[in-house]
Formats: sequence, C-alpha cells, structure tokens
Amino acid sequence: MMDQTYVEDLSGMIGEDVVLKGWLYNSRSSGKLVFLQLRDGTGIVQCVVFKGNVDDDTFEQAKSLGQESSLIVRGKVKEDARSPIGVEIDVTGVDIVQAAADYPITPKEHGTEFLMDHRHLWIRSKKQHAVLRVRHTVIKATRDYFDDNGFILADTPIFTPAACEGTTTLFEVDYFEDNKAYLTQSGQLYNEATAAAFGKSYAFGPTFRAEKSKTRRHLTEFWMVEPEVAYAHLEDMMDLGEGLILAIVSRVLEERKEELETLERDVSKLESIASPFPRIHYDEAVNMLRKGHEDGELENLFEWGGDFGAPDETYLSQQFGKPVFVHHFPAAIKAFYFERDRERPELALGVDLLAPEGYGEIIGGGERATDIEFLEKQIEEHGLPKESFEWYLDLRRFGSVPHAGFGMGIERCTAWMCGIEHIRETIPFPRMLYRLRP
Ligand code: 4AD
Ligand code: MG
Repeated sequence: MMDQTYVEDLSGMIGEDVVLKGWLYNSRSSGKLVFLQLRDGTGIVQCVVFKGNVDDDTFEQAKSLGQESSLIVRGKVKEDARSPIGVEIDVTGVDIVQAAADYPITPKEHGTEFLMDHRHLWIRSKKQHAVLRVRHTVIKATRDYFDDNGFILADTPIFTPAACEGTTTLFEVDYFEDNKAYLTQSGQLYNEATAAAFGKSYAFGPTFRAEKSKTRRHLTEFWMVEPEVAYAHLEDMMDLGEGLILAIVSRVLEERKEELETLERDVSKLESIASPFPRIHYDEAVNMLRKGHEDGELENLFEWGGDFGAPDETYLSQQFGKPVFVHHFPAAIKAFYFERDRERPELALGVDLLAPEGYGEIIGGGERATDIEFLEKQIEEHGLPKESFEWYLDLRRFGSVPHAGFGMGIERCTAWMCGIEHIRETIPFPRMLYRLRP
C-alpha cells in the first residue's frame, strides 16, 4: 500500500508519525507558526508548522502556499481538544506537489451561477463535499436494501425506441441511418420483463427528462432506482417503499452525523421518521387540499382530477409531518401502463410518496395493467407507436401476472436528507434546462 494515512483515521493514531497527502484548504500564519488546513477527501486536519522544526525554505514556502495547492505533509499526530477531530499534526516536513495560485473560490460569498460554473472545483468545499457524501450513503443504503431483500440488479438500456413516461419530455438522439432513439425516462418497461424473469428485480441508473420546468426539484438527468416485483400489488409497493425510506434515513443518521452537522441539518426531523407512513386515497387528498384552500392556507382551489402542484404536495405532507403515500390517482393524469381500480375504472392503481418539509414527490409507481387488450387500447390512446411496444405486449402474451414497481429519485431523496433547498447540489455535475457545463 501507499505510504499514506487518511485524515479520517488520525484520531486513533496519537503519537504516531504519519504521511498525509492532500490539498490546502486554508491557512494562516503568526510569527514562527504556520497553520495549514489540509484536506484529503476524508476530512480536514490542522497541520502546525513551527519554524524551528523545518528548514527555512520549507517554512517560507508553507507560509505563502496558495489555497488548493497540493502537498504532502509529514508529522506527528498530537491530541488537541480544540480540534473538531480531536487531533492536529506537528509538522516535520512538507513537500509541495503543485503550488496553486488565485484559486477562484475564496471564503467570500459567491453567487450560485458562479459556483455552478466552477462546479468541478466547488465540490471540494465543505458543504458540497458533505452533500455528496450523504448521496453516497443514500445510494449504498438503497442498494443494500434491495440486495438484502432478494432483488436482482438488472440494469436497463439508456437508448430506447419509445417513451415510457409520456412523449412530452423525450430527448431524441440520432441513432444510425435515419433511426431515432430516445434517452430513457425510466427503466420500468424493461423492469417488467426482468421481474417476469427473476421475480424481484431492480434497475439503477441515469434517467432523462426534457423538462422545461426550472424548479428546484427538476433535473434533466437524474438517477432513479426502480424495483419491480412479480405477483405484487399496490399495497406491496407502499410496504416496499416505506421500508426503503426507513433504511435510508437510519443509515444516513448513523453514518453521516458529521456531514449533517456541516449542513446544519435539523436531525430531529429525520429521527422522527417512523413506521407507519400514512396512506391516503386521492379523494381524501383532494378533500384535504380543498379544506386548505378554505382555511386560506392554499391559494388555489384544487379540482378533483388535477395533478398536485408543489404547494399542494407541501401542504399534504405538512398535515402529517411524515412521508405520506397518496394512491388511486385519476388515470387521465397518469402514464398508459397503470392497472385500473375494478370498482372505479377512472382511477389508476398508482401511488406517490410525498416527503415531508416541502420536498415533494420522491417515489412514484404502482400496479401495472395485465390485460393485453386494455394495454393495446392504452398505447393507441396515448399516441404511442405500437410496433415499439410489441415486445412489451409479449409480457402479457406469455405468463402475464399482476406486478408492481416504483421509481425513487436519488437526488430528491438526498436533498431531503440534507435539508437543502435545491436538488442541483445533490449530484456531482447537474444537468438542467440552462446548464450543460462543466
Ligand atoms: O414518478 P415518475 O415519473 O415515475 C416513473 O418514471 C415510473 N416509471 C417509475 C417506476 O414505476 N418504475 O418518477 C419517479 C421518481 C419521482 O418520484 C422523482 O423522485 C424522480 O423520479 N424524478 C425526478 N427527479 C429529478 N428530476 C426530475 N425531472 C424527476 N422526474 C422524476
Ligand atoms: Mg411521478
């Protein structure tokens, strides 16, 4: 292994000589001392250079080193009660790997556009770094949850011949000799095939929506985890989704304490997330929204049949202070593939999970239609090209069974965990309506 110690391991190494490799986060000097804040990706540690302990050249270099210069520090780990990690480094040597000057992101306030333009550097900053570490844990907890519950990971294609979630948000790409392909909006249709092969499967990858909406909840490229289960029904998806969210919340609380502190997250809000999550019928949600309007808490009067806007979702989740499932949406506002309610065929067996604190819909899914004639009609009514769905219809020709699934947006979930305003900070390099760089 490399001769290198990571900052995250230092607290257990008091008195030892170590080699740290990283970058200069910040520094200051005072007389015979230089204080270098060294970051190495796992944490930040203060390295104290005392003039008498290193040669003059090294001392002068350390004193004038620019922010984000890369450097290797040798020294002894010393207990320090004032340090957030309980230790600092008594420096015996410094090698400068590259001396950087005029790093564009300084401790002063920068505008979001400026920071987004410098996203490749911004991700080194404490807060961004914390958010992306929480994202990592959200993803790890998600994978573990499905892996530990008998699911097979079966990833689905990104180039697809047709729409899954409506034709208005498709990104079209040229695909050899006058063929068109679309970037996938969801792996669901393929998940239905893998679920029929494996029983329980999930896909986890980037998905794309040409959303012209410039909201704090929309990206044009986002990561979605999508489980699909054969012989499962609507209720089962609520159980599965609830289990997933509980697994994520507890893992984030357990493993990302420090990051949540950096983000000044009110963790009591996450600690209070517990089973059972309320499950309300769309009709009931509509009644609540209408009451919200009567009480003057919602500006618009919600009409039955409509889709929830952001204020509606926020209002609904506020009534519970917990994630809340809303199920049985009007079929008219849903995709073509939903199974219908037997008693009320105008309702789709769809379910959304609304996160608390105004984070809105983080899970969307439901039960899939099993009947081939019904689906053929749906495909036609939705103006979808039937020939592109023949393979999908095969799933109804050969061993059609009740089945259900859902999709959870990783970025929306991460934004909620972190308590941050905008989901653009929850992915290393966000893609949005007006952002394709860096
Ligand atoms: O509700 P959606 O559109 O559902 C589907 O795509 C289903 N086919 C999934 C399935 O059943 N397998 O999207 C699912 C989730 C949303 O709840 C949200 O968390 C996220 O994906 N999402 C977005 N996240 C960021 N930016 C966007 N533009 C998003 N659109 C959806
Ligand atoms: Mg949805």
